[in-house]
Amino acid sequence: MSAGARILHLTCSARAEASQSTRFSGRIVERLQPAEVTLRDLARAPLPHVDSAYAHALAGRPPGDRDASALDTLARSEQLITELNAADAVVIGLPMHNYTIPSCLKAWIDHVLRIHQTFAPSPEGKRGLLRDRPVYIAVASGGFYTGARTNQPDFVTPYLQAAFNTMGLHTLHFFPLQGLVFDPERVAQAWSEATAALDAVLAPQGANALPA
Ligand SMILES: Cc1cc2nc3c(=O)[nH]c(=O)nc-3n(C[C@H](O)[C@H](O)[C@H](O)COP(=O)(O)O)c2cc1C
Repeated sequence: MSAGARILHLTCSARAEASQSTRFSGRIVERLQPAEVTLRDLARAPLPHVDSAYAHALAGRPPGDRDASALDTLARSEQLITELNAADAVVIGLPMHNYTIPSCLKAWIDHVLRIHQTFAPSPEGKRGLLRDRPVYIAVASGGFYTGARTNQPDFVTPYLQAAFNTMGLHTLHFFPLQGLVFDPERVAQAWSEATAALDAVLAPQGANALPA
């Protein structure tokens, strides 16, 4: 990227330093330097799940009717949307959990995918209100969900596509790190496959400038 560009880096693994998805997403962030990075570790500092105040506020209670807890929860949502909107690129590292995304990432999506803020209703369906920008997603999984060895369903890819598309973000790049429960050779192979996929999208050294 270029000086002044910003990256929002989201990590979601409960395995801290042992996390493969966090490590690979860090490699993506390195490729996008120089840039200012905002790191949000959603596993270490989880966001609250949607509560009654937030659900009522989004259901259209007029502003004057919002109590302190509704204002608090809306302010958190607005801060997260501002953070997302300020980013020139989003980088996510996530483990597959029960065929889909971890609940801490779902909580983040529930705070940012918000009517009149990041999407607007229309007769044709929801219309994104954010400008497009690249989203790079490293997905770690114990088994296989894509390719010749697929042995389970994948609700990660279609769900994230739908969620980001709804907000207007259409340029998604997925980097699967699959079969991580097997032997170290398989883990090494997963890394070389994901790195080859990354090389095809971002040059190993520099030349990945995005407008700030
Ligand atoms: C609660 C839980 C659910 C999981 N569900 C799946 C799954 O559905 N499919 C799969 O391939 N691996 C599954 N795994 C394994 C993780 O995806 C795998 O260990 C991955 O490497 C974790 O990512 P990390 O290294 O970034 O922590 C699950 C792990 C946990 C803890």
